[in-house]
Amino acid sequence: AQPRRRRIVVSDVIDQRARERLASEADVIEVDGRDKPALYEALREADALIVRSETQVTRELLAHAPRLRVVARAGTGVDNIDLQAATEAGILVLNAPGANAVSAGEHTVALMLAIARNLIDANATTHAGRWERKRFRPFDLKGKTIGIVGLGRVGSVVAQRLRAFECRLLGYDPYITRERFAQLGVEPVDYETLLENSDIVTFHVPATPETRHMLDARAIARMKPGAIVINCARGEVVDVQALAEALKSGHLAAAGVDVFPEEPAYQSPLFGLPNVVLTPHIGGSSREALEAVGEIIATTTLAALRGEIVPNA
Ligand code: MLT
Repeated sequence: AQPRRRRIVVSDVIDQRARERLASEADVIEVDGRDKPALYEALREADALIVRSETQVTRELLAHAPRLRVVARAGTGVDNIDLQAATEAGILVLNAPGANAVSAGEHTVALMLAIARNLIDANATTHAGRWERKRFRPFDLKGKTIGIVGLGRVGSVVAQRLRAFECRLLGYDPYITRERFAQLGVEPVDYETLLENSDIVTFHVPATPETRHMLDARAIARMKPGAIVINCARGEVVDVQALAEALKSGHLAAAGVDVFPEEPAYQSPLFGLPNVVLTPHIGGSSREALEAVGEIIATTTLAALRGEIVPNA
């Protein structure tokens, strides 16, 4: 008898070519990860599950997937996967670290520039036929002090790009060597010093118990009046209520936010505030990133299902 074809459930958008690769060796079933009954039904016979950040791979979900051997995260962070529960069930967890770092780094700089150049408002008013040339006072990034929290793959991309803008770069990352700081042209400082001295603070840390609400009301109080916050990392890192209050009081001038404590975010204290540029967790979604991430995940998932040893496991 023919061996049973493997079944791979894909619960979020992945690159077209990756999907074709997977389909050449397995049955690929696409479901909307937010539709739990449909997802659980699809998982009953699944050998592998491919997710991005939207599907929460919980113990409950894994209980609906008795055959599952691989969970692959088409991205970097695995914070949406219960690693303990996966390990207990003998399930291999794969990811594609760094494949979307340039994308997230460029998105960070894009948010900084959108704010510095009043791009969002200037675009809307110009389209509306209002010529508000006198109202807008953009500022240059040159000469500004930018605090980078987390100098891993994404933080490094941000530092490299900002050097071209002739910014002064401060960095906080207890896990990175002094040599790496020097290589990136970033001054190593403690977190408080970074908050107190930066015109813009940008976060590039994973969501862990240690980083949860790293930017809370107390940390915000330490920031310079008129400073700007950028978060393209994880929603949990920033206390969004405290951020909204600081923006309303005028202590902070602006924020650029791509990630939310709960996603999809259909409501947030940041919605509707002026000087807040929001995007729906698309920092890591450039075409190039999706292609690179898709290729890694398709290759490693298929190899794992064949029983081969794979990287990033
Ligand atoms: C990641 O962890 O890689 C990012 O959040 C990007 C994504 O989910 O697309």
